[in-house]
Amino acid sequence: MSNVRDSADFAGEAIVVRGGAPLDGVVDVPGAKNSVLKLMAATLLTDGRFELTNVPDIADVAIMSELLEAIGVRVERPTGDRMFATDNGDLTPVAPYELVERIRASINVLGPLLTRCGHVRLSMPGGDDFGARPIDMHVAGLEAMGATFKFSHGYLEAFADRLHGAEIAFDFPSVGATENLVTAAVLADGRTRIDNVAREPEVIDLCEFLVAMGARIDGIGSPTLTIDGVERHELHAVSHHTVPDRIQTATYLAAAAVSGGSIVVRGARPDHMVTVLDRFREMGLGIEVADDELRVDAPERLRSIDVATLPYPGIATDYKPLIITMLAVADGVGIVTENLYPGRFRYVEELQRLGADVRTSGHHAVVRGVPRLSGAPVRAHDIRAGAAMVVAGLAAEGETTIGGVHHIDRGYDDLVGRLAAAGAAVTRVGS
Ligand code: EPU
Repeated sequence: MSNVRDSADFAGEAIVVRGGAPLDGVVDVPGAKNSVLKLMAATLLTDGRFELTNVPDIADVAIMSELLEAIGVRVERPTGDRMFATDNGDLTPVAPYELVERIRASINVLGPLLTRCGHVRLSMPGGDDFGARPIDMHVAGLEAMGATFKFSHGYLEAFADRLHGAEIAFDFPSVGATENLVTAAVLADGRTRIDNVAREPEVIDLCEFLVAMGARIDGIGSPTLTIDGVERHELHAVSHHTVPDRIQTATYLAAAAVSGGSIVVRGARPDHMVTVLDRFREMGLGIEVADDELRVDAPERLRSIDVATLPYPGIATDYKPLIITMLAVADGVGIVTENLYPGRFRYVEELQRLGADVRTSGHHAVVRGVPRLSGAPVRAHDIRAGAAMVVAGLAAEGETTIGGVHHIDRGYDDLVGRLAAAGAAVTRVGS
């Protein structure tokens, strides 16, 4: 184990969980990080005053706001879940290193800025704790639409007087590449057809936002999108309600599942979670769905299952740390296969510190359930892994302290407050 555990990640704030209390209460789920960040980037397509609602109060939204401000958009957060983004047309199409290195979704400004301004200079986005995150598909797609690229001194620069339509077929349905190319195609000259696109609910939310702005997009929700370019004066600012966060929703279900509790999650989109809800039911969770509500009852003990991550509508890689945590206390052995990010298993060593029996080999994890975990200091390695550590703490005897809370804050809107309101013994300590 590294010394970091004893220094940086535990020097600031931590989340302290005392396990053993079954959850019992109601949780309201906020809007999706992976939608709102893309909606914010897409406001760069035209001027005017956009209103976004159901905007989560998370660090990534604050960083994306700073990025938009640096480009020339005024961002206001009046109260609650609203945001206004106002663009008066005077943009500087540059995304500096200090902001890009803090947020992966900054890559989403590439498409809109290039198609709007004809030029963009963007610091190269880095990897994540779970491995390299290349952007070759974004670049190849934009090149097919007429862009040229230069890479030097850690920056990429893209140029195109006006992008033109193209026929593009993805080898893999990348979420980010789909979003960038669709957004760029909105103002391109002619028709762009993209095959094998990502179909995540957040991608659909973005497409619907673009259509409301005046974009012409066919095939939304299908594997092929056809975008007929429009002139910029045909686009206008809109008001849009962000789609609910399915990963946060699953986090509260997992918390109820491992604590032996029963909760109601409100403001969700159960229809975006059909596959994962089926798997949770196989594990023994009682789940009733009514409109935007999920009523969940944990069984005496969860049952193990095998799970493989896949692009939507498969099981999202972002659910995986939660699922492994559930399997860690389930009856039997479960095999989990990661098909998106081979390195996304680093948190397993933290779960082992809590007494979980998990072995990894390549992109598989074998999880042999134990009756209960035992509390210890652990560390959040990324957003989802961090949330999974909090969930694991609920299934552990004694106290679990989670360091690296800033990772969790990137994507979770008051995880501690929401869990505490549902009866969990969880607090935030430190400054
Ligand atoms: N890929 C390439 N080349 C590319 C683009 C992607 O090889 O040009 C590979 C990636 O390396 C990865 C796979 O394709 O192996 C999936 O990448 P994708 O582009 O689909 O993911 P992303 O857009 O970078 C988004 C979410 C992730 C989520 C993935 C998969 C955002 C900001 N991020 O990333 O969410 O895991 O889709 O669903 O939307 C998180 O929220 O914590 C998070 C990591």
